[in-house]
Amino acid sequence: MQQFSTPAEIRAWTREQRKAGKTVGFVPTMGALHDGHRSLIAAACAECDEVVVSIFVNPTQFDNPEDLENYPNMLADDLGICTAAGVGAVFTPDRDKMYPNGYATFVDVVGNLTDKLCAVARPGHFRGVATVVTKLFNAVVPDVAFFGQKDLQQALVISRMVSDLDMGVEVRVCPTVREPDGLAMSSRNRRLSEEGREKALALPRGLEMANQAYAAGERDSNKLIEILAMELLVHTGVDLDYAQVVSLTGFEEVDEVKDSCVLAAAAFVDEVRLIDHIHLGGPALPVSLD
Ligand code: PAF
Repeated sequence: MQQFSTPAEIRAWTREQRKAGKTVGFVPTMGALHDGHRSLIAAACAECDEVVVSIFVNPTQFDNPEDLENYPNMLADDLGICTAAGVGAVFTPDRDKMYPNGYATFVDVVGNLTDKLCAVARPGHFRGVATVVTKLFNAVVPDVAFFGQKDLQQALVISRMVSDLDMGVEVRVCPTVREPDGLAMSSRNRRLSEEGREKALALPRGLEMANQAYAAGERDSNKLIEILAMELLVHTGVDLDYAQVVSLTGFEEVDEVKDSCVLAAAAFVDEVRLIDHIHLGGPALPVSLD
């Protein structure tokens, strides 16, 4: 596995692969790799001849400097995971290579996709994500890029951007990987205390309770949100940031749930912000409701 730290180097590597008739898959990450990332790398290896993983904690998508500061850095472990998974190249740029002095260009996806859910509490977050993903795509020049469905809003923002700007990259959105007890895998889970880890389970549990109510015929969004909120706030004492039901067609908030809606939520546990969602009427989450 090769490691590159400048856009010019990784671009030259991709060019070589393409000259040899190979397709290049790309998994952008901020490091602290877990099984969710492993599943993205596996999907990329299965579909493409060569795979690039980027590891870059992108400052422009953090609205909170402390969150950026506390983001886990586990580069040695990450490189081991990439080697074992069969990755051909890792791209680990320095901040000043990505955002040199005088940097002044940003990519902004506007409208329904970026006016709700995570965008409200994290102003500028999706602008930072869209900007860095554009820069990473320009450096890596992949054929196919892989994102996790856990960050649903991010995946939709990136898909919109790729289509609007004719970027010519195929976007694959891969299923959320969960711990056996239902907690969605996230690099942030490492920052939870033992007690916090237990409390965090209220998020998938509350989502699954709402999903069961939907399966039993409940179609009022507020009632479904209330079920989730009760489980988080009242039963577990977890702070809810938001809970909303949105349609996947149009990403509008809905009062009455019809087909293709998700209940999405963010909550704070141990001051760590966790997000998750459930496709109402979709498969049950592996949680205990006893
Ligand atoms: O999902 C992430 O880890 C990041 O938002 C991404 C896509 C690597 C951009 O920094």
